[in-house]
Amino acid sequence: MGHVHVLDHPLIQHKLTHIRDKSTGTKEFRELVDEVAMLMAFEITRNLPLQETTINTPVMEAKTKVLAGKKIGLIPILRAGLGMVDGVLQLIPAAKVGHVGLYRDPETLKPVEYYIKLPSDIEERELIVIDPMLATGGSANDAIHSLKKRGAKNIRLMCLIAAPEGVEVIKEEHPDVDIYLAALDEKLDEHAYIVPGLGDAGDRLFGTK
Ligand code: PRP
Ligand code: URA
Repeated sequence: MGHVHVLDHPLIQHKLTHIRDKSTGTKEFRELVDEVAMLMAFEITRNLPLQETTINTPVMEAKTKVLAGKKIGLIPILRAGLGMVDGVLQLIPAAKVGHVGLYRDPETLKPVEYYIKLPSDIEERELIVIDPMLATGGSANDAIHSLKKRGAKNIRLMCLIAAPEGVEVIKEEHPDVDIYLAALDEKLDEHAYIVPGLGDAGDRLFGTK
């Protein structure tokens, strides 16, 4: 079964409070999401495997460590996932980025896929699916199915805030996927918004609505 990791680092929690606050405007919201994404990336990559290498320091030859194993791919779910990509890239600048375009139909609340463009070697990469909100779980679930259909094998999911309902969907449908969150909130409201949440992530990031 996939694990759920709530990243409780004080800086993440402090910044998330300002992200949630409705008086935080677009510019500050964007900057904070970027910063939290970077801090989350630091935690998420904590268990990446290392291998030994030998280098020459100015003093002597030394055995040290570099990252081993699979290369990383970031898969933001459009549109709101885009707001977290640059933050993660600050720590993992060589990652390739694939995009999955999904929106949640406001009537049915079901995700509709309208775009997909992925690195050609996703089956060899450690993929991090990125979306600020995991509400009903429909969008992330569809995105992960789409990636698996195209050969992806190692997937983690990274969200700012999740509802328990969304977490259950991913655990059920994708027991191989670990979930990394800044917060696990209380519930969904009748419009499938996360409570207390932060409102509409895409609208707050891009200043729409
Ligand atoms: C939001 C959010 C997730 C989705 C979560 O996107 O960014 O992708 O809703 O909801 P779910 O777990 O119930 O599927 P939205 O559909 O508003 O599209 P946008 O990013 O283009 O604004
Ligand atoms: N999408 C959002 O942007 N916010 C929510 O609370 C739920 C889905």
